[in-house]
Amino acid sequence: MNSLPARDQLRQRVEYTYKFNAKTGRHGWLRLTPAYSLKIVEELVIGQANAQRVLDPFCGTGTTALCAAYHDHEGVTTDINPFLVWLAQAKAAHYSPTSIETTRGACTQALTLVADRAIEPVSAPPIFNIERWWSAEALEFLCLLRAAIEHVTQPDTEIRNLLLVAFCRTLIEQSNAAFNHQSMSFKGEDNQALLFPIDRGAAFEADVQFVLSGAAENPAGSASVILADSRGLRKALSGPFDLVITSPPYANRMSYIRELRPYMYWLGFLQNGRDAGELDWTAIGGTWGIATSRLTDWERPEKHFKSAHLTDALQAIAHSENKNGVLLAKYVAKYFDDMWAHFCELPELLASGAELHYIVGNSTFYGTLVSTERLYAEMLSELGFSQVECRPIRKRNSKKALIEFDVVARWK
Ligand SMILES: C[S@@+](CC[C@H](N)C(=O)[O-])C[C@H]1O[C@@H](n2cnc3c(N)ncnc32)[C@H](O)[C@@H]1O
Repeated sequence: MNSLPARDQLRQRVEYTYKFNAKTGRHGWLRLTPAYSLKIVEELVIGQANAQRVLDPFCGTGTTALCAAYHDHEGVTTDINPFLVWLAQAKAAHYSPTSIETTRGACTQALTLVADRAIEPVSAPPIFNIERWWSAEALEFLCLLRAAIEHVTQPDTEIRNLLLVAFCRTLIEQSNAAFNHQSMSFKGEDNQALLFPIDRGAAFEADVQFVLSGAAENPAGSASVILADSRGLRKALSGPFDLVITSPPYANRMSYIRELRPYMYWLGFLQNGRDAGELDWTAIGGTWGIATSRLTDWERPEKHFKSAHLTDALQAIAHSENKNGVLLAKYVAKYFDDMWAHFCELPELLASGAELHYIVGNSTFYGTLVSTERLYAEMLSELGFSQVECRPIRKRNSKKALIEFDVVARWK
């Protein structure tokens, strides 16, 4: 049984954004940036001091672009998820001492409105089974706080963004969600954290302080964060880039929309489950909600990347004993078609000699190993990249042969 005070338990569950933790050295947040990946990205960026422009086509929480900016490069990053683009933009912004002081004042004003109940709360977001996420008391506090933040700030301002980043931290800290697996689950009813009373206002204030202490440390370089599909990068960006460091979605059926839904609903990036599924369908590797039925109807186009390893794997998955084998074979086929469409965008955007690092893990489906790293390597070689290598980084799972690789290549 865990005997830590609630506050510490909550802290254990919260993960921090890169920008906002520069002082403490703690990292990770939203489960998209595990500790090891920040370390790897940092080593790669430091090792490439001459690279001026660094691209990450799969931004997530913005680790690569932020890391590049803190090491005085120009970071450019894209993502298809508007919430992550907003978050990474908020992390990448340069904040003046005046903005930081004004945010501190706005926090005090907002908390006064909440304490006095002098504001009409917003409606609770339409999250399915919301009562599993937050106690009635927590929900009431969050609805009041959300309304108060809107009341004391103007739309699309740094002040509102900083308070909303802190609000994201608070809403997850005060939830019943647990992050001890790859994806979110709910705490058991016997969890000790539920037994300790929480001063909710003080918790938000602490989150604002935490966010502001990081916001005060502006990166030396710049980072731009762009809403774009990595399969259509040439429309959104202009090169040349000297270095690409990224962690693309894995072929593992993890849905970033599913993982991020509490933040996305509270901040208004999602209105209903259908939108969530639609957005997941546009994301590479998404299979949540409507995305699954879309996949059922999806037919592989005649023109796709040809690989004997992929063909063998797809056949083995489709013919496995499992009733979902055919669907999962489609999932894997679509994943690699999408990644091929993405890789085809790169040559026009890269400087001669540009180095690529794709941090990715392999997968298994009903006992069939899908060597994602090998398929990436095949695709990059086919496009004319040289020095293509798959460097193992770490084991992902002690029982299975699941390994993470850095797939490295050089453009001409
Ligand atoms: C593994 S995460 C990136 C994690 C990131 N390295 C970080 O530090 O947080 C993969 C990201 O790819 C994004 N993504 C999925 N499909 C995409 C697409 N077609 N275009 C751009 N981004 C996409 C997802 O939204 C997700 O944020």
